[in-house]
Amino acid sequence: MIEIRCFRNADPPRLADVWRAADLGPAAMQPMTAPLLEASVFSKPYFDREGLIVAADDDRVVGFAHAAFGPAKDRSTVDTHVGTTLLVAIVPHPLQEQIGDELLRGCEAYLRRRGATTILGGGSADLRSFYLGLYGGSDLPGILDSSTAMRRLFERAGYETADRVAVLRRTLQGFRAPVNRLQLAIRRNTVLRAIDEPTRRTWWEAATTTGIALRRYELLNQADERLGSASFWDMQPLAGTWGVVASGLLDVEIEGPRRRQGLAHYLVAEALHDLSQEGVGLVETHASTANTPALSLFTKLGFETVEHGTIFRKPS
Ligand SMILES: CC(C)(COP(=O)(O)OP(=O)(O)OC[C@H]1O[C@@H](n2cnc3c(N)ncnc32)[C@H](O)[C@@H]1OP(=O)(O)O)[C@@H](O)C(=O)NCCC(=O)NCCS
Repeated sequence: MIEIRCFRNADPPRLADVWRAADLGPAAMQPMTAPLLEASVFSKPYFDREGLIVAADDDRVVGFAHAAFGPAKDRSTVDTHVGTTLLVAIVPHPLQEQIGDELLRGCEAYLRRRGATTILGGGSADLRSFYLGLYGGSDLPGILDSSTAMRRLFERAGYETADRVAVLRRTLQGFRAPVNRLQLAIRRNTVLRAIDEPTRRTWWEAATTTGIALRRYELLNQADERLGSASFWDMQPLAGTWGVVASGLLDVEIEGPRRRQGLAHYLVAEALHDLSQEGVGLVETHASTANTPALSLFTKLGFETVEHGTIFRKPS
């Protein structure tokens, strides 16, 4: 008899067991442990036990699913209008499909109870409330194509594709920042600053990136005005088995009026050069397939798409 209930304090080691046994695909942190879950999930200020739905077969925990929300516009609190089921993990079990369906229904019921009018599947750059560094690579990419069991679960439940996210990688072996007139002019007129463990810009950024080693490159003009920034994080231990030191490019942004002047290309190329000098061998980043400027920028910088993830949406 399968019981569906919400999280209890004694669950963490059993949830780590479920994670280790579940088929989450190659982009899930392994081996999972209770302390890793503690750092990325239970310790978050907005963790709500009612949103973590657990399936138990008699006394044995056989699966869990986690529903959560993203930030309000000013990123100072959580907004419960849009909610998502970040992931569903189930051990091999004869009733696997039924357990998955019930866990997902439990998540949807929780999200609706809290006021969600839009119900999604998978995390994203906007909805990275939990599991950054534990699933999906440099950011949460929705549900990766390689997470076959999870993808099928959302499709079976009638979810549609809301967005596709490209996972892009670039090896840094022998990387050299391009040198041309535009780059030289930008170099002359700007200052590039690398800040380790920068002060987080918002409550949401602090809550979601605490515990990961963040480095921010800031590009300033001669008047000390910020033109843009790029934030990277040290992807170990998630990338521990890749055989290369990996860094995740979490975000890059150029101030609106300064765009299309070659600044992002300069900023990221300089950052890649700096990271390669420090022994980083690979950089991963994600971009929505609808974000043409970002995809073109990364392609120009030599990134290649290695996989896609899907952000699902439950039709209303
Ligand atoms: C993506 C972004 C960082 C690009 O910054 P930028 O300084 O305008 O980019 P650059 O001027 O250095 O352009 C470099 C290349 O990117 C591509 N690109 C940039 N803006 C583009 C646009 N609007 N349309 C198509 N391609 C674009 C081009 O390939 C360009 O090379 P080209 O000028 O030789 O054609 C900027 O648009 C931005 O801040 N967007 C909002 C945040 C974001 O989406 N970040 C990416 C995901 S984290």
